[in-house]
Amino acid sequence: MMRVRAFGETGIELPVVGLGTWQVFDLPPGEEHVAADVIEAAFGGGVRVVDSSPMYGRAEGVLGRALEGRREEAFVATKIWTGTGDQARRQLDAQLRFYGGHVELEQIHNLAAWREHLPWLEAEREAGRVGLLGATHYSASAFDELEEVMRTGRIQAVQVPLNPLERECERRILPLAEELGLGVVVMRPLGEGDLLPGPGPRELEPLGGATWAQALLAWALSDPRVHVVIPATSSPAHARENAAAAALAPLSDDDRRLVERLAGRR
Ligand SMILES: NC(=O)c1ccc[n+]([C@@H]2O[C@H](COP(=O)([O-])OP(=O)(O)OC[C@H]3O[C@@H](n4cnc5c(N)ncnc54)[C@H](OP(=O)(O)O)[C@@H]3O)[C@@H](O)[C@H]2O)c1
Repeated sequence: MMRVRAFGETGIELPVVGLGTWQVFDLPPGEEHVAADVIEAAFGGGVRVVDSSPMYGRAEGVLGRALEGRREEAFVATKIWTGTGDQARRQLDAQLRFYGGHVELEQIHNLAAWREHLPWLEAEREAGRVGLLGATHYSASAFDELEEVMRTGRIQAVQVPLNPLERECERRILPLAEELGLGVVVMRPLGEGDLLPGPGPRELEPLGGATWAQALLAWALSDPRVHVVIPATSSPAHARENAAAAALAPLSDDDRRLVERLAGRR
């Protein structure tokens, strides 16, 4: 069984390693089997949280089809990504078709028109079509506004980047999320792949056999304010490797410094 963590104060426990779909699930019809293989490998390793967005091309539909037969096991986190109300509702309608009438976590992507979207998304939550509400941003330059949304008390989760070279969320977003009891999803735990490939087994020896990708995931998860990391992959082998990172012992402070030093060398 994969390690689980309470998702803030939402009352939900989630496996700590999830799966992102940006770029990797934007597949043409003839290649959708790749996504099914990745889902099978990831879910075989205990992954349950999957993250997508209407911004990711065909990824939302590809994900829905790859989840056929295991939709009940999944915690689907996706996003509303548009400035206009009509388009936003069409995005939700498509998601409800893809995901069997329910989205577990609906996030406002890059804070687009969040004041306009919150009221109708709250109504969708009341109606039971949406579970939790969240907000995401990839850039620290938007963290002031993200903080404003968090302080409304109307969202239950945030999604931000965190890896040894992208740590701005540690300053205000993670402390505030902890104070407010919000769930925290970490995007870009592998630096969009820029942190890979990394050092070899000799340098990683102190981490007890972890691969570099696993070391990076364990690094993010060693912050107790983080609840789920969502590495993206197009490879079933990588999906298995990433899921197995959940079994690693929590990193000590020394281990954390080692990962930071090795990442900083790149
Ligand atoms: N809200 C937002 O604004 C936003 C922005 C960015 C991302 N996100 C979400 O966060 C997710 C994760 O972020 P990301 O996709 O940008 O980057 P990431 O997960 O940090 O990195 C993904 C890259 O790492 C590689 N990779 C994965 N596992 C590996 C392993 N075990 N060994 C070697 N390489 C490995 C993948 O290549 P392979 O295919 O070869 O494995 C892929 O190129 C996204 O997919 C998306 O769901 C959200």
